[in-house]
Amino acid sequence: MREEIKKIKEESLTLIQSGLTRDELQELKVKVMGKKGSLTALLKQLGSLSSEERPLVGQIINEVRASLEQAWDEKMKELEEQALLKRLEEEFLDITLPGIMMPRGHQHPLTKVIEEIEDIFIGMGFQIAEGPEIETDYYNFEALNLPKDHPARDMQDTFFITEEILLRTQTSPVQIRTMEKLCPGLPVKIIAPGKVFRNDDDATHSPMFHQVEGLLVDRGVRMSDLKGILLTFSRQMFGEDRQIRLRPSFFPFTEPSAEVDVSCMLCGGKGCKLCKGTGWIEILGAGMVHPKVLEAGGYDSVQVTGFAFGMGVERIAMLKYGIEDMRLLFDNDLRFLAQF
Ligand code: PHE
Repeated sequence: MREEIKKIKEESLTLIQSGLTRDELQELKVKVMGKKGSLTALLKQLGSLSSEERPLVGQIINEVRASLEQAWDEKMKELEEQALLKRLEEEFLDITLPGIMMPRGHQHPLTKVIEEIEDIFIGMGFQIAEGPEIETDYYNFEALNLPKDHPARDMQDTFFITEEILLRTQTSPVQIRTMEKLCPGLPVKIIAPGKVFRNDDDATHSPMFHQVEGLLVDRGVRMSDLKGILLTFSRQMFGEDRQIRLRPSFFPFTEPSAEVDVSCMLCGGKGCKLCKGTGWIEILGAGMVHPKVLEAGGYDSVQVTGFAFGMGVERIAMLKYGIEDMRLLFDNDLRFLAQF
């Protein structure tokens, strides 16, 4: 039996060192020291030995078992360390490598300007209103005191869809739609940003562009209120030093009407290329709402008055950012857009 023990010990030690995998090593342990292992089998045979031999052989088996376990443990630990090192090597991440930059988008300059205009007027208590881009002749013209044969219709080269349906040429129809909705509520105090369309295309005109309409209807609204609101707007938009001036003009839906100029944001009013030497730059049209327009909106033009204005967003953006060709705003060239 001693021979057998020796043989198991030597064979096992050789096997443990023979470069087994962890699984094979685990199998070997079961084969030798497991419940049905070869060494365990010898332990069970102790009973057949003489009473002098039994304790001696038993002790030898236990010693062999202990030394095998130790050799096995050491080998297993070594293999596990190797495996860990290998994994660390394979999964190595060089966190000092430069990353891949994800390009980040931002708002279009026109969207920025529209939101800035909205913020300024919301700050003065205006609400945002909207209307359809496809309009009827009634809202775009007729209700705004522009009957079918009115010569002022020529000012706005219209895209007609049918005789009665068109692409709105201005945001002014939202004046009528809003009054209809709110009447007889007071005040009506809204701005209406949106797209408008005219058959026009050059460096300062695009067939689609944006306007922001303004409308304030209440008891006792005066032209000085209009002037105050527009001065506040101009200063917040173009700088605290700006002045404005109103020049007489004509719109069928306002009476009196005015073109509104702001003192040049580039030269401060001395005269330069931007303001063509005048010191002033036109930024919008405005006026007191025509009684017929108030009536079309459902209001009593004896009881209430109002003012309205309309500005071109592209023009404001071009002035604010010094853009010389309006078409740049619609070309979607990233080299241009990335500058804002
Ligand atoms: N709707 C006019 C235009 O497109 C602008 C305007 C709006 C003028 C409101 C006066 C009052 O030119």
